[in-house]
Amino acid sequence: MRALELLKAAQTNKYAIGAFNVANTETFKAITQAAAKLRSPVILEASDGEINYIGYKQIAALARIYEIELGIPIIVNLDHGKDFESCKKAIEAGFDYIHIDASKLPYEECVDITKEVVLLAHKHGLPVEGEMDHIQGSSEDHRKENTKNLQNPSLYTDPDKALDYVSRTGIDVFASFVGNLHGEFADKEQINIPLLQKIQQTLPNTYLSLHGGSGIDDNDVKAAIQNGVIKVNVNSEMRIAFKMTLQETLNKTNEVAVYKIAGKAIEEVQKIVEYKIKLFGSAGRLTDTNTSRAS
Ligand code: G3H
Ligand code: ZN
Repeated sequence: MRALELLKAAQTNKYAIGAFNVANTETFKAITQAAAKLRSPVILEASDGEINYIGYKQIAALARIYEIELGIPIIVNLDHGKDFESCKKAIEAGFDYIHIDASKLPYEECVDITKEVVLLAHKHGLPVEGEMDHIQGSSEDHRKENTKNLQNPSLYTDPDKALDYVSRTGIDVFASFVGNLHGEFADKEQINIPLLQKIQQTLPNTYLSLHGGSGIDDNDVKAAIQNGVIKVNVNSEMRIAFKMTLQETLNKTNEVAVYKIAGKAIEEVQKIVEYKIKLFGSAGRLTDTNTSRAS
């Protein structure tokens, strides 16, 4: 299990690998260039919306090309796969890592679907991330809203229920909800670190991910990594930077050649990815494993 090897190295050395959403060629470039520059392993992820736009096979193939060309390990991750079918398609297309998010379904159904996905993914040697508590918010521009409107501690992960979920499903990575909202807000998101610690103690043999990596207080991100998080998902900050920069460029130019217009937006997204990679501590960690596909 190549992806697991990378996660194991992150756990041993107490850093996290950034999982960044790809949406087009420009974001592919921004993410892979940042990882290559900082000599960091990286996770390229795509959710159903992004996959519908680019295609399962196209994402997997493009990632392989960048991986070989740049000489960095790239894990291709299905992000928030909603059902068994989308997980199956990702596996067949060559994804390396499957996140099944059936958290909107009643608990027993969520357990059943997660189990089915684990069975199939493990047959292919792929790790599975599971989510049982819906992570609130959405990967959009919430900068006019306050986190308090969405933070509801009664929805946070209950460690004992997490143990039940993990032992019944056999997942490898657990996505908890401990205040980590999806989206970027007017104020910084605060994470309940003591709760995360409790989850880690309750699940000593399960890796932990942290979704909603945009807009979380940097100190909380660092504390989360010190308490077992080995994967941090980031999307909104990149989306916002891409859109705002592109808009600015378009307002200023009469240029019509797309490749001449997109450069600045790629640069700004890359800056965010570089910042996160440094924050997560994965810069310069290529030698922790020997998983490169570079020729
Ligand atoms: O799965 C994707 C991430 O959790 C993205 O969260 O949009 O808050 O960065 P974010
Ligand atoms: Zn997420």
